Amino acid sequence: MNPRDRLGRPLRDLRISVMDRCNFRCPYCMPESTYGEHYTFLGNDERLSFDEIERVSRLAARLGVSKLRLTGGEPLLRPNLSELVARLRRIDGIDDLAVTTNGTLLARQAQELRDAGLDRVTVSLDTLDPTLFHRMSGGRGELADVLAGIDAASAVNFPRGVKINTVVQRGVNEAGVVDLVERFRGTGIVVRFIEYMDVGNRNDWHAEDVVPSSVLLASIGARWPLEAIPPKYAGEVATRYRFSDGAGEIGVISSISQPFCGDCSRARLSSEGVLYTCLFAIRGTDLRSRLRDGSSDEALLDTLRNIWLARGDRYSEEREALRQKGAARKIEMHYIGG
Ligand code: GTP
Ligand code: 5AD
Ligand code: SF4
Ligand code: SF4
Repeated sequence: MNPRDRLGRPLRDLRISVMDRCNFRCPYCMPESTYGEHYTFLGNDERLSFDEIERVSRLAARLGVSKLRLTGGEPLLRPNLSELVARLRRIDGIDDLAVTTNGTLLARQAQELRDAGLDRVTVSLDTLDPTLFHRMSGGRGELADVLAGIDAASAVNFPRGVKINTVVQRGVNEAGVVDLVERFRGTGIVVRFIEYMDVGNRNDWHAEDVVPSSVLLASIGARWPLEAIPPKYAGEVATRYRFSDGAGEIGVISSISQPFCGDCSRARLSSEGVLYTCLFAIRGTDLRSRLRDGSSDEALLDTLRNIWLARGDRYSEEREALRQKGAARKIEMHYIGG
């Protein structure tokens, strides 16, 4: 029997960080001041190997996981990522295999990933203004590379398409939201606007930096009328809207104004093999040592099941109270990929 956690939620979705490094230094995730030249990332043998990732994924599928998402840092920095994709593709029960990337290396890798069996990609893109883009990537990224990556991903026809994730920060990229909608309307690419969250400990988050999705929907809807549409699956993170004129759809991810912990079925595996049951977790379970100490599949399966049975996380619903208590240190986003 597939486990349900303490709040009755099943485990369906495993997000796997395959690389703690990133070629960007977005101030809200890996600010240069912390992640400068002297920062020590994981060594190659500290990251889970493809064998280990595949093993955890197979076991997770036996507990009900049907969706895998590869994240980072930047997952396309992991050498031979398409080999991992091909291996995960062959696991029984996995019907959705996705990658979240910043897009800079996508033009080079899109075809290979498609051929390996990847179902879809999600590209993070916060603005179409080249100067602001460069600044928001911590001076590391070029907008043109990301747009080329998105074009390449569209051209290779991933079976489940391409999405764009835009984190909206008040006074930073808020004014460019309508441009993003205009650019991708009618292309089949779905843009989703994410409320800026207090992930990790280093992004100096303030509630005032958040632009509520309702505000964005009002300004987008004033230009192109929108209609709410039902979720594609139970527990979908984004709330979906379609353009009344038939030019496709957009989504909003409102983790601050409308938390969606109620049916959160996601677990996260960090690049060093720690399993977390919430994006805002304070501690996780080290699976790497278990993967390397000769434990049997059945013993590992038991461990995974017990972690899930014990889960009671609902951080976004408790945010206010927990922040007031003085937050303990949370996991940093680049270890678990959002
Ligand atoms: P689809 O399957 O394409 O709908 O996407 P997904 O649910 O896999 O979401 P994706 O990885 O594109 O997530 C988009 C963003 O939503 C992430 O980058 C996070 O910012 C936020 N997000 C995703 N999952 C969670 C979650 O469990 N909790 C919170 N608070 N935010 C989440
Ligand atoms: N709030 C919301 N989303 C975030 N992401 C990174 N940091 C934050 C944050 N503080 C998003 C990235 C990317 C995904 C991996 O997580 O933009 O789309
Ligand atoms: Fe930016 Fe994503 Fe890299 Fe973090 S992991 S620095 S959000 S590109
Ligand atoms: Fe799931 Fe935690 Fe996000 Fe709530 S805050 S939706 S429990 S990951």
